[in-house]
Amino acid sequence: MDTIETPEPTTPAQRTALVVGASGITGSALVDRLRDAGWEVLALSRRASSSAGVRGIAADLRDPESLRTALADERPTHVFFTAWQRMPTEVENIAVNGGMVCDLLAALSHAPLRHVALVTGLKHYLGPFEAYGEGRMPDTPFHEEEPRHETPNFYYAQEDELFAAAERQGFTWSVHRSHTVIGYAVGNAMNMGLTIAVQATLAKELGLPFVFPGSATQWNGLTDMTDAGVLAEQMVWAATDPAGADEAFNIVNGDVFRWRWMWPRLAAHLGVPPEQVVGFEGAPRPLEQQMAEHEAAWPGIAQKHGLVEPDISRLASWWHTDADLGRDIEVVTDMGKSRAAGFTGYRRTEQAFAELFVRYRADRLIP
Ligand SMILES: NC(=O)c1ccc[n+]([C@@H]2O[C@H](COP(=O)([O-])OP(=O)(O)OC[C@H]3O[C@@H](n4cnc5c(N)ncnc54)[C@H](OP(=O)(O)O)[C@@H]3O)[C@@H](O)[C@H]2O)c1
Repeated sequence: MDTIETPEPTTPAQRTALVVGASGITGSALVDRLRDAGWEVLALSRRASSSAGVRGIAADLRDPESLRTALADERPTHVFFTAWQRMPTEVENIAVNGGMVCDLLAALSHAPLRHVALVTGLKHYLGPFEAYGEGRMPDTPFHEEEPRHETPNFYYAQEDELFAAAERQGFTWSVHRSHTVIGYAVGNAMNMGLTIAVQATLAKELGLPFVFPGSATQWNGLTDMTDAGVLAEQMVWAATDPAGADEAFNIVNGDVFRWRWMWPRLAAHLGVPPEQVVGFEGAPRPLEQQMAEHEAAWPGIAQKHGLVEPDISRLASWWHTDADLGRDIEVVTDMGKSRAAGFTGYRRTEQAFAELFVRYRADRLIP
């Protein structure tokens, strides 16, 4: 262990956060929260940018040399790891995403690290996308102490790299298992809020039905979601409160809902006339198929409304919304463990969506 001895940083101003994947849906919420709380914030991604109170660090997590060079003079006390890259198979996901955690922490062996927080997700319980919901499923609501699923999973590889580095480098760790994230990002891999907003825009502009794409189970059953803000709040809590050290936590908003209740409400927030709103009828109708013939209309819609992103592929992640809403199993998440440990963050899911749509509208990503 070659950690440099420094006094315990106890106030935000003494703490330096390195947010890894800082431009993503989770990372950007963390950057905002840490900056607003007075931390020194380093924001790492390939296309890094600096802003008031935030210093961008451009590095490629798949290039250990680039990481070593970029981080040689940095001395973060806390790391928030939120980066990932989607690969064609889970075998490749494991190699790439496990490797990124390993190489990032190795490049920080000189830093006075106190805590490293890693965000993963409910695929910890459900299995990877290519074997989603297959095999033995834990009973709902999902609890943190469930044994790992038998299917190989990149989250397990990331956890194992985290645990090994914590042992070697002498920091505490936390893992944050999120459900589908409601948050702000453009050009990222999985963004249900913006995907639904783009679907609604196409429906309004082209006079199409606004069709729920998912399964009967999701339409009728109880479920939950995770606002990026509450996820960031839990990660910062775990990174700074002894009760959060060396533990894995689920993180969802704290309310439950049924999509048959939520879908017409989201339509109303997005200005879709009620007569165009269509629920589950007989079978899932995935957005990838529903939207394929309408995507070409987006550049014209963007021009008509003065929108800033004419490339619909940077806004809508149809595949991911289809996968999450198409699940034929109940997905509900227990929040008791972190509540008992002292984390009390809470969001109302409908309000999280509504506020997100206002933000996307204000930034001219949707009309
Ligand atoms: N989004 C969801 O709904 C959701 C739900 C549950 C769990 N999760 C999990 O949460 C974790 C974080 O996902 P997310 O959705 O927040 O990610 P995201 O929005 O796709 O953001 C990924 C971030 O990682 C950076 N990045 C990717 N490859 C990189 C590389 N080679 N070098 C440096 N930076 C790189 C990206 O920036 P650049 O492209 O600029 O490098 C971006 O800042 C993942 O494990 C995911 O499975 C997500």
